[in-house]
Amino acid sequence: MRKLNIELKNHSYDIYIEEGLLFHLNNYIKSVYKEKKIFIITDDIVSGYYLDTVINSLDKDYEVDYVIIPNGEESKNINVYADVCEKLISKGIRRNYLLLALGGGVIGDLTGFIASTLFRGLPYIGVPTSLLAQMDSSIGGKTGIDFNGRKNIIGAFKQPLMVLIDPNTLNTLEKCEFNNGMGELIKHGAIGNERLLKMLLDKPDINEDIIYESLTVKKKLVELDEFDLKERMFLNFGHTFGHAVELKYGYKHGEAVAVGMVMALKMGIDLGITNSECLKLIESIIKLYDLPLEVLNYKDYLKDSVYDKKNIAGKVRFILIEDIGKPIMYEIREDELL
Ligand SMILES: NC(=O)c1ccc[n+]([C@@H]2O[C@H](COP(=O)([O-])OP(=O)(O)OC[C@H]3O[C@@H](n4cnc5c(N)ncnc54)[C@H](O)[C@@H]3O)[C@@H](O)[C@H]2O)c1
Repeated sequence: MRKLNIELKNHSYDIYIEEGLLFHLNNYIKSVYKEKKIFIITDDIVSGYYLDTVINSLDKDYEVDYVIIPNGEESKNINVYADVCEKLISKGIRRNYLLLALGGGVIGDLTGFIASTLFRGLPYIGVPTSLLAQMDSSIGGKTGIDFNGRKNIIGAFKQPLMVLIDPNTLNTLEKCEFNNGMGELIKHGAIGNERLLKMLLDKPDINEDIIYESLTVKKKLVELDEFDLKERMFLNFGHTFGHAVELKYGYKHGEAVAVGMVMALKMGIDLGITNSECLKLIESIIKLYDLPLEVLNYKDYLKDSVYDKKNIAGKVRFILIEDIGKPIMYEIREDELL
């Protein structure tokens, strides 16, 4: 078992990572939630694999009910949000009940958003089951839904009471979903944890230690910059080019991030910012995990990057790295770039 604590100004919480944890969730939850009612929110794939196990673990100590939504990004919208709220209300939810997010990043973001808005705030616990959610999205408190074709445009910061991670759930994940998380995992290594990259070189199964090392990177950035105004933006390494590539080639997000990282590394090398050894290391790990290693010239995508939503007032912002674990913000005026 590995444990991590997120320490924020107004709220601290623990993250436990343990193989088999799903079978005794109740023991963990007891330490932070003293009331009796839990509502699980999950999707129609994850529920098939894990809902019974979770209910069996909880109903020794709690009254448990659940809401199941269709899986996938399409569910992260205002209609599903309203539908889940309606179901919770008609099932008699009160403001001291606990929400439990059982699923990937979609379930985490949606449940967190419901927890931040219904009754002006409810406690929630994350039980992430996808690689992306376990190594990244379940911590840090960003919650929300997509709206009018824009991702995560409505949302709130709402930190969970606790995050409980069982890496064994990754055994049922589809390969493409695994790749999706893997791109972001390599990114965490690149911006903040050389030890993680070295571990990945041995191509182990994703285990407690790997998830722990990945989360230490996000922990550090979230603690420095809870509301995403400065250092947390380093998490966008590979994303400026990645978004352009994702739209053009239809890659999964994490795969596009892998391609985007290589492009950002090449740009950094051309600018004399990035140590060229970083490129060799990151490329070898991307290859090892069968992620796309497209040879795309970043210069052909500079124009697209001007429209990245993270840019500000006439400046285009790139996250580059000087070396492994040393990310920087590189800003350039739009007119200069074009
Ligand atoms: N809040 C944050 O900080 C943050 C950070 C990054 C991404 N995100 C969000 O996360 C979402 C993407 O997360 P995701 O990739 O987990 O997507 P997801 O929740 O849609 O899960 C991907 C697919 O995997 C399935 N799945 C999940 N766990 C499984 C398991 N153990 N076995 C079998 N199938 C399983 C799901 O049913 C779904 O079909 C996006 O909406 C993104 O905006 C949020």
